[in-house]
Amino acid sequence: MSIGEEVLVVFGGGAAGVYGAIRAKTVAPKLNVVVIEKGKPLSKVRISGGGRCNVTNGHCVDNKIYILAERYPRGYREFRGTFFDVHGPMDTMSWFSDHGVDLKTEDDGRVFPVSNSSSSIIDCHLSEAKQRGVFLQTGKVVTTTNATAGGKFLFKLEKRTLNLVECIEADYLLIASGSSKPV
Ligand SMILES: Cc1cc2nc3c(=O)[nH]c(=O)nc-3n(C[C@H](O)[C@H](O)[C@H](O)COP(=O)(O)OP(=O)(O)OC[C@H]3O[C@@H](n4cnc5c(N)ncnc54)[C@H](O)[C@@H]3O)c2cc1C
Ligand SMILES: *[C@@H]1O[C@H](CO)[C@@H](O)[C@H](O)[C@H]1NC(C)=O
Ligand SMILES: *[C@@H]1O[C@H](CO)[C@@H](O)[C@H](O)[C@H]1NC(C)=O
Ligand SMILES: *[C@@H]1O[C@H](CO)[C@@H](O)[C@H](O)[C@H]1NC(C)=O
Repeated sequence: MSIGEEVLVVFGGGAAGVYGAIRAKTVAPKLNVVVIEKGKPLSKVRISGGGRCNVTNGHCVDNKIYILAERYPRGYREFRGTFFDVHGPMDTMSWFSDHGVDLKTEDDGRVFPVSNSSSSIIDCHLSEAKQRGVFLQTGKVVTTTNATAGGKFLFKLEKRTLNLVECIEADYLLIASGSSKPV
């Protein structure tokens, strides 16, 4: 990374972290975006929807989230967050078709890749991230976070298999650690 450029560290390489990183690079191409993932990226996406990955609900024709939220009883409150005011189910579907993933909507409204394989969703995200220059580091755990005197974030990363410890500094932080407890 060249000196003087700002750095966003995304903590967690699940659906939220990888998409967030792609989005950050889309709106701010000069930003250095680093995703730190302790295991494999998008591993929950792989098993979601029984390996087929139901991406969204296609019966939300007016793109309104409250209808989508009703279909996710356990995530109702989360779905009312600000993200979904600007990025509804129709935006999700057009994002995938714009990025070469054909989707189909089943009778009950669930939307799957035509391939019936979550790999299509994973491959799409990983190739888009790579193409946009997202720097993905896997097998590294964020163990501590601190603030520096200069107002930046400082993270300690550990690669346990190699007993390696390194530090990384960031101007911006996106926490996308899923249901894991924060460090
Ligand atoms: C069996 C199953 C089926 C599902 N089916 C569907 C479905 O069909 N459709 C649907 O929409 N949703 C489904 N879900 C829910 C969906 O998987 C989650 O909503 C989604 O994956 C959450 O994404 P996330 O990025 O917020 O979190 P996660 O996918 O949990 O990603 C967080 C990432 O952060 C990493 N991480 C955490 N702590 C650290 C650390 N200290 N250092 C480095 N990395 C760290 C984790 O390893 C993980 O990869 C399903 C879930 C399960 C378990
Ligand atoms: C997605 O698929 C999984 C597995 O089939 C199911 O448990 C979940 O309820 C589905 N979600 C929606 C919104 O259809
Ligand atoms: C995808 O899965 C659905 C439901 O199991 C099935 O009806 C359909 O034929 C499958 N499509 C392909 C291309 O395998
Ligand atoms: C963060 O601060 C604590 C307490 O001051 C210190 O022990 C730790 O080494 C610091 N971590 C990093 C990554 O600098």
